[in-house]
Amino acid sequence: MHLLRIDASINGPRSASRELGDIVETRWREQHPDATVTVRDLHETPIPPEAMGAAVSAAFAGESGPTEAQAAATVLATVLVDEIEAADAVLVDSPLYNYGVSSQMKAWIDLIHTDRRSAGGSVRILEGKPAVLVSTRGGSYGAGTPREGWDFATGYMRAILADLWGADLTVVERELTLVGINPALDRFAEAGAAQHEAATASAHEAGQRIAARRTAPVAG
Ligand SMILES: Cc1cc2nc3c(=O)[nH]c(=O)nc-3n(C[C@H](O)[C@H](O)[C@H](O)COP(=O)(O)O)c2cc1C
Repeated sequence: MHLLRIDASINGPRSASRELGDIVETRWREQHPDATVTVRDLHETPIPPEAMGAAVSAAFAGESGPTEAQAAATVLATVLVDEIEAADAVLVDSPLYNYGVSSQMKAWIDLIHTDRRSAGGSVRILEGKPAVLVSTRGGSYGAGTPREGWDFATGYMRAILADLWGADLTVVERELTLVGINPALDRFAEAGAAQHEAATASAHEAGQRIAARRTAPVAG
């Protein structure tokens, strides 16, 4: 058994998404003590933002062949999709930055979509595989909040992982992670603590759930 874990937070050990991801990974490892885990940390080792353009343009390389940058981007895209194909389960820890997915996460998705096995997102490269999306945000975007609906990351990541890529997706969400860090949110201390507690429980459940799930057999 093999788990692919994707991290994107710039917050190092203070990261809320990593904290929840650690719980999911721990629960998964308990059920699969001999299993292997690949961690791709998109903050520590970012996908170069220019890689997508280089990989796309490589398809139109003339007789002189691809440039060094085009060849490197194509190889990296291959590696990313190899990692997905090799995984029995996937964990994606996704922070909300500036109301959307982090640029690190977007660069990962963009480059994957250049590989022919993904074909721009039209191939379900995670079909039937159990996956957990951890989605964390500093504020609150629920019904009745001033910025209701402004979390443009969680829906996007669901669409990519489940709708396009076909994962059997469990979502763990935590809001108000900036309570205790940003004094303007002090009045939400109780709600923030409740969010933390609920998300922690949800991460334990999600880890157990994907650990118990087997990858769907390949048809034929
Ligand atoms: C560059 C940056 C942009 C952010 N933008 C938002 C935002 O638009 N909305 C929000 O609620 N929180 C925002 N935050 C707070 C993060 O969502 C919060 O720190 C969350 O815990 C991120 O997950 P992480 O701790 O794993 O990085 C931002 C944080 C950073 C560093």
